[in-house]
Amino acid sequence: MTSPIRVLPLIVTPGPKGYALLDSGNGRKLERFGTIVVERPEAQAMWQPRLARTEWAKAHAVFSASGEDEEKGRWRVDKPVPDAWPVEVEGVSMQCKLSGLWHLGLFPEQTPHWQWMVRGIGRDAADAPRETRRVLNLFAYTGAASLIAARAGAEVVHVDASKKAVSWGRENAAASGLGDAPVRWICEDARKFVAREVRRGRTYHSILLDPPKFGRGPDGEVWDLFEHLPAFLSDCAKLLAPEGAHMVLTAYAIRASALALDGLMRDTLRDRGGTIESGELAVAEKDGDRLIGTSLYSRWSSP
Ligand SMILES: C[S@@+](CC[C@H](N)C(=O)[O-])C[C@H]1O[C@@H](n2cnc3c(N)ncnc32)[C@H](O)[C@@H]1O
Repeated sequence: MTSPIRVLPLIVTPGPKGYALLDSGNGRKLERFGTIVVERPEAQAMWQPRLARTEWAKAHAVFSASGEDEEKGRWRVDKPVPDAWPVEVEGVSMQCKLSGLWHLGLFPEQTPHWQWMVRGIGRDAADAPRETRRVLNLFAYTGAASLIAARAGAEVVHVDASKKAVSWGRENAAASGLGDAPVRWICEDARKFVAREVRRGRTYHSILLDPPKFGRGPDGEVWDLFEHLPAFLSDCAKLLAPEGAHMVLTAYAIRASALALDGLMRDTLRDRGGTIESGELAVAEKDGDRLIGTSLYSRWSSP
C-alpha cells in the first residue's frame, strides 16, 4: 500500500548576500537590506520576537499598514534613508527604495530560483556549439532575475506592465555595470506579449513568471490569476525551447495550495516529460530556526 503521506519541498533561504531577516514576531519582521534596517508587517509571524526592543528601535524606517491590508499604508522614517541604496544580489546591484510602498524593489526569497535559473542556463546540452541562452522574465518587476541572467551571459526579455518598474530595472542595470547587456526592457501586458511571441514562433530556454493575484496591463488589460493562468501557462509552454529549457512559476498571497500550481504545471507540460518540483519558498531568520513562508512555486526542467 502506498503511504498516504507525501512531502512537498520547502526551499529555505537566508536571502541574498546583502539581506538578512534579523527577527520576527508579533505580526512584524525586522530586516536588513544592505545598510538599511526596516520593520514591516508580517502576518505569519505569530510568535514572539527574540531580539530586545532596543534592537527593533534601530530600524531606519517602519511601515505601518492601513487597516486590514498589510500592503497598504505608509513609512515612518526614523533615521536618514537615501532615495535609493544598493543591495548585492548574486553579483548584481539592486537599488532599494522606500517609494514602492511596502515593497523595497527586491524579493529576497526568490534567490534560490535565481540560482536554479543560472544553473539551468549553464546546463550543457551536447558537444555542439552552444546557443546563447534566451531568458523571458514575465511580471519582471525591478529586474533582479533579468540582470542575474544577463550577468550569466543570457539574452533577456524583461516584461512588466509598470513603466516605473521598467525604469527601475534599467537603473539597476546601470548600477550593476550591465547598462549595455542584451536586455530588452518591455512595458506591456504579459498576456499580450506572450500571445504575440507564440504567433512569431519565438522560443526561450528559460521562462520565469511571478504573476500577482490581480494586476493591470499598461492599457488597463486585466490580469486575474485564477481566470487567466491556465491559458497563459499553456502559451508560455509553447515558447519553451525544444531542449535545455526550464520554467519557474511563483504565486504570492493566493488562496491555493502548492498542489494547485503543481497540477497545472503537470497538465501543461504533460507532453514534454522532464521533472517538476513544487512547494513553498521560505526565508530563514538570521541565527535562528524560524522560517517565514512567502509564496508557492512550481518549476519544470526539460529531460
Ligand atoms: C510580484 S511583482 C514580481 C516580483 C519579481 N518577480 C521579483 O521577484 O522581484 C508583480 C509584477 O507584475 C506586474 N504586472 C501586474 N499586472 C501585469 C500585467 N498584466 N502584465 C505585465 N506585468 C504585470 C507588476 O507591475 C509587478 O511589477
